[in-house]
Amino acid sequence: MAKTTLSFKRRVTLHFCFFLFALILVTSENSSTVLIPGQFLRDSQNQTLVSPDKTFELGFFTPGTAGGSSNNRYLGIWYHNAPAKEVVWVANRNASLSDTSGALSLSPTGILVLLNNQNKTIWTSNNGNPSQAATPNPTLQLLDSGNLVVIDGNRVGILWQSFDHPSNTLLPGMKIRSNFATGKQTFLTSWKTDQDPDEGRFSMSIDPRGYPQLILKNGEENRYRLGSWNGKYFTGTPLLPENNIFEYEFVMNKTDVYYTYNVKSALLSRLVLNQTGFLQRYARSQGRSEWTSLYGAPMDQCDLYGNCGAHMTCNMEENSPPTCDCLDEFELIDPENQSKGCARKVPLNCENEYFWNYTRVKLPDTSTSSWFSEIRSLGECQEVCLRNCSCMAYADADITKADGGCLMWFGELVDMRQYDSGGQELFVRLSAAVPKSPATLNSGGKNLVAIVASSVGLAGLAGTVLVLVLWHRRQRSLGMRGASIFRRDGGNEEGGEDSEMELHIFDRATMVKATDNFSTENKLGQGGYGPVYKGTLADGQEIAVKTLSKSSGQGTTEFKNEVVLIAKLQHRNLVKLLGCCIEGDEKMLIYEFMPNKSLDFFIFDKTKSKSLDWNMRIAIVNGIARGLLYLHQDSRLRIIHRDLKASNVLLDKDMNPKISDFGMARIFGGDQIEANTSKVVGTYGYMSPEYAIDGLFSMKSDVFSFGVLLLEIISGKRNRGFSHQDHNLNLLGHAWRLWIEGKPIELVEEEIVDDELSTTTQVLRCIQVGLLCVQQRPDDRPSMSSVVVMLTSETLLPQPKQPGFFTERNLPDSESSTSDNKHNSASVNEVTISLLDAR
Ligand SMILES: *[C@@H]1O[C@H](CO)[C@@H](O)[C@H](O)[C@H]1NC(C)=O
Ligand SMILES: *[C@@H]1O[C@H](CO)[C@@H](O)[C@H](O)[C@H]1NC(C)=O
Ligand SMILES: *[C@@H]1O[C@H](CO)[C@@H](O)[C@H](O)[C@H]1NC(C)=O
Ligand SMILES: *[C@@H]1O[C@H](CO)[C@@H](O)[C@H](O)[C@H]1NC(C)=O
Ligand SMILES: *[C@@H]1O[C@H](CO)[C@@H](O)[C@H](O)[C@H]1NC(C)=O
Ligand SMILES: *[C@@H]1O[C@H](CO)[C@@H](O)[C@H](O)[C@H]1NC(C)=O
Ligand SMILES: *[C@@H]1O[C@H](CO)[C@@H](O)[C@H](O)[C@H]1NC(C)=O
Ligand SMILES: *[C@@H]1O[C@H](CO)[C@@H](O)[C@H](O)[C@H]1NC(C)=O
Ligand SMILES: *[C@@H]1O[C@H](CO)[C@@H](O)[C@H](O)[C@H]1NC(C)=O
Repeated sequence: MAKTTLSFKRRVTLHFCFFLFALILVTSENSSTVLIPGQFLRDSQNQTLVSPDKTFELGFFTPGTAGGSSNNRYLGIWYHNAPAKEVVWVANRNASLSDTSGALSLSPTGILVLLNNQNKTIWTSNNGNPSQAATPNPTLQLLDSGNLVVIDGNRVGILWQSFDHPSNTLLPGMKIRSNFATGKQTFLTSWKTDQDPDEGRFSMSIDPRGYPQLILKNGEENRYRLGSWNGKYFTGTPLLPENNIFEYEFVMNKTDVYYTYNVKSALLSRLVLNQTGFLQRYARSQGRSEWTSLYGAPMDQCDLYGNCGAHMTCNMEENSPPTCDCLDEFELIDPENQSKGCARKVPLNCENEYFWNYTRVKLPDTSTSSWFSEIRSLGECQEVCLRNCSCMAYADADITKADGGCLMWFGELVDMRQYDSGGQELFVRLSAAVPKSPATLNSGGKNLVAIVASSVGLAGLAGTVLVLVLWHRRQRSLGMRGASIFRRDGGNEEGGEDSEMELHIFDRATMVKATDNFSTENKLGQGGYGPVYKGTLADGQEIAVKTLSKSSGQGTTEFKNEVVLIAKLQHRNLVKLLGCCIEGDEKMLIYEFMPNKSLDFFIFDKTKSKSLDWNMRIAIVNGIARGLLYLHQDSRLRIIHRDLKASNVLLDKDMNPKISDFGMARIFGGDQIEANTSKVVGTYGYMSPEYAIDGLFSMKSDVFSFGVLLLEIISGKRNRGFSHQDHNLNLLGHAWRLWIEGKPIELVEEEIVDDELSTTTQVLRCIQVGLLCVQQRPDDRPSMSSVVVMLTSETLLPQPKQPGFFTERNLPDSESSTSDNKHNSASVNEVTISLLDAR
């Protein structure tokens, strides 16, 4: 509420200022917000035009680092109040001023004119067009978006805007466009050098031939094809799907096509095509000075256009050069010369042919011999393609809609690559003589680790880091870098909707110092992704630094997943992320340090478990339940943790439990209740049967893990590795057996039993809740909200049914399982297994 009022007030003030400035152009700071005919913006007087919210500034500058070798002056737009002049637009790109005599003025007809000391026109906004008709009182304004606009006096329209003439930077709201009819294009061009903003070799535009594609060119040659838009992302940028920060738009109608993006937050962002031909996305929060580079493309050699021949996919493996492989059922045309590409092993004869499903690919170039059909379903599309003997392949044109039309190719399929995750399905025509076999088994990918496309957890690094920067915007101590300046505003302890959290981006040097150069003494343990270190910041705050080993590609996805997730989550029973550190391909997560390590360290240790009495245990159980409930229901997102276990519950100095390790977590859509994955991750002993066997995960699979954990806390025994002289059951089976034999109290660890009747009732209640949580059928298990109620009230509980996985035999492939190793890590996730679904 308070925020809304504030921004309203500010707007009123700005409006007022607008009129004030219109009257008195030159202020004490020599900057104003508007320019009207008859006024000049003079370099010699250091005059500038500043946007109303003071984000952008228009003025004269010399490119390059301060004191650069040239004296050339240019008129341009940069971020106001930023130490480094990040120029986002340049007017006179190819016609510099040689001194500071430049003056910008607005003609009465609304044309911008840049004059030098001889009153010679250096640059003009009408590009030599015949002079425009006079308009009443035009004004020049720099908008908060960074758009420099000439508005006619009646404010009926924009006469000219810098957004129609991009330089090397795409700002939010700016469009890259192509007109099919006139061929007119709006596109980015790189600077020549960092001293010369003139048009360089590289450009990024929409290629309107065939089905429109976004393309980065080096001169006339294609350098990197971002490719066709599939409703969610460009086929060549699968790592940048939806996220909560950027909103991408690709709009196409009969005459026009454009691409733009917006930022759904108060973040500043820019996409720059740099001098060496790379697209780089940067972001920073308003109060901060340094930019974070989020994304650079082309990312690797496989991104380079046509790196492999026709009918080949380019494959990138960790730490090895890219390889070019023929599509399945294709072979090299000339084994001596790969770049000639591949051809079908069995040539087509147009009889009874069929389509092979290639998955996770970047769709081929659509600029030549491709065709877009509005035919509704993919099935119909297949029929159409099958009937036309020259149709070689088809694919879904819009993966977000069932009836979004499809793409067809009539010639060679070029510039494809294979992704480990993401990517699209391409259906390629093959002869009937080629035996049909499930494409999934040999679809060119060497790696079956497919990640469900529906998972939002895949949000690209861009989104990820943005979240960080976003949360960081209330950063107050501007000058301090690397120190701990993490603070939460407001005392709303439960977190949730209202509280905002600040996340710090630490630099590597600070981490090196804090951890004593990652010394072995400071090593807390080894996580699935890399080691975890204890550290101490300059101000004495203790931290846990979780590093991500460079070589683990899988870890990268999980790292992103984790940062995105945790940055949004705040609850006293969730471990608090203080910040992260991303430098090059080194990534680290910085957590609050948990002096009491993890729960497994206590409950499974003969001596330590004595210090955990029943009251402490029930407090821990309740805390975990509340943390999990928050994940499932109360946070803005619906999150399935997927790897809840004793070692992922950390304990603070007061023994409050904090759930940690969101590397495996998945976000669910608002009303989604179940999802399926081909890659089962988790830890044996805690995984529900439907998840471990069928890959189905839901909140109920987390409830199962919670039930296991609850029984472990009560018994002090691990579910896996549990043994008993009387039977071969695991802990669940043992608990169930005691329950049906009417002696559940025997499950309880001796240390914690006392003679209080109230304790005994409570313990029995907990066992019953635990057994309810681990029931075989997900539908029988209570939700976490019921669990919280059951644990804290006296309501009558239902009778549990048989648990799932109560014998060891039920476990798929016991060999590859990992038992919890006793480490002394504070925030380590121990080995978490991944098992591929055999289907
Ligand atoms: C503003 O311009 C005046 C001349 O018009 C100049 O004397 C003064 O130094 C300028 N102030 C700044 C801060 O540049
Ligand atoms: C403009 O700014 C420069 C550098 O900040 C300064 O040296 C110069 O005196 C200023 N000129 C005027 C007219 O204020
Ligand atoms: C500068 O570029 C404009 C438009 O691209 C062109 O019309 C003009 O001739 C160029 N001027 C010079 C000096 O190259
Ligand atoms: C430029 O034009 C202004 C008025 O438009 C005039 O005062 C000035 O003397 C002219 N300068 C030159 C070098 O012609
Ligand atoms: C196509 O879109 C452009 C801009 O989005 C719009 O100006 C134009 O009128 C549209 N044309 C048609 C035929 O809808
Ligand atoms: C352009 O971006 C690439 C990739 O991010 C980077 O490696 C390169 O140094 C940049 N070039 C310049 C001149 O900034
Ligand atoms: C390989 O094939 C490509 C394309 O057909 C051709 O340009 C190139 O010269 C060939 N290279 C060799 C070594 O034969
Ligand atoms: C197949 O499709 C192509 C491209 O649309 C078209 O030119 C050709 O006439 C079609 N052939 C048949 C037999 O329909
Ligand atoms: C193509 O294969 C993928 C992976 O096996 C599968 O998910 C998808 O449903 C298949 N597509 C069609 C249309 O059969």
